[in-house]
Amino acid sequence: MRLPQFSLRFAWPLPLLLSFLTPSVYPEDVFDFIPLGGRTLLAKALSNRPPADEVKALLSARQNTEEWQRYLQEHGKAITGLKALSPKELLTLADYLSFNMPLPAGKIPANLAQANWPKLLPLDGRDLVLDYCQGCHIITVVITQKRKKDAWLGTMNKPSHIQIKLSREQREALASYLILNAGIPIDQVPEELRAGGATY
Ligand code: HEC
Repeated sequence: MRLPQFSLRFAWPLPLLLSFLTPSVYPEDVFDFIPLGGRTLLAKALSNRPPADEVKALLSARQNTEEWQRYLQEHGKAITGLKALSPKELLTLADYLSFNMPLPAGKIPANLAQANWPKLLPLDGRDLVLDYCQGCHIITVVITQKRKKDAWLGTMNKPSHIQIKLSREQREALASYLILNAGIPIDQVPEELRAGGATY
């Protein structure tokens, strides 16, 4: 009766292996329900080529979230793409800008009209969740939780998460995005992402 034991010993890593492989088999648009982050929102706002001095001023300023909210309101006339964003998107964008502006001078493209903004701008909280929060569990564990900052940072500082290669600043930016955009009701999560989503 040694054979079954032998084969079990080699079978146990299989579920673990499958859970690592799963995210890559989802169709790309399965994540469309997760609200856009600041990188994409800013790229959208800049896509109809606002005046170069407006773009430079925005990319060169350092402000907190509230100041950015006011700034975005005041500059809606010049940066007309901002008008297409909802109040919640404007807040998500203001929050992103507070973490990522000013861009280092070398990162501001010389030819603003030709800039490929989605590629050029720093990753936002949504990007970080997709890149760093699916390796060990389904993304549903993350984006269905409604939490405050301390609770998000608390999880990311647990032994199970501390080794994730995110800087302190990235953890803060990630938490900030999740405070505004997580807490998505489970019935808005696509079926294929629900299985196992409530196991924690
Ligand atoms: C290295 C593996 C790993 C990665 C990567 C990972 N998690 Fe987890 N996560 C776990 C484990 C293990 C648990 C269950 C045990 C626990 O909570 O420590 C868990 C549970 C959770 C929970 C529910 C329980 C709690 O403590 O709040 C949340 C929320 C969570 N993870 C968020 C995240 C976020 C956000 C990310 C991306 C930054 C992430 N996880 C990436 C391993 C991981």
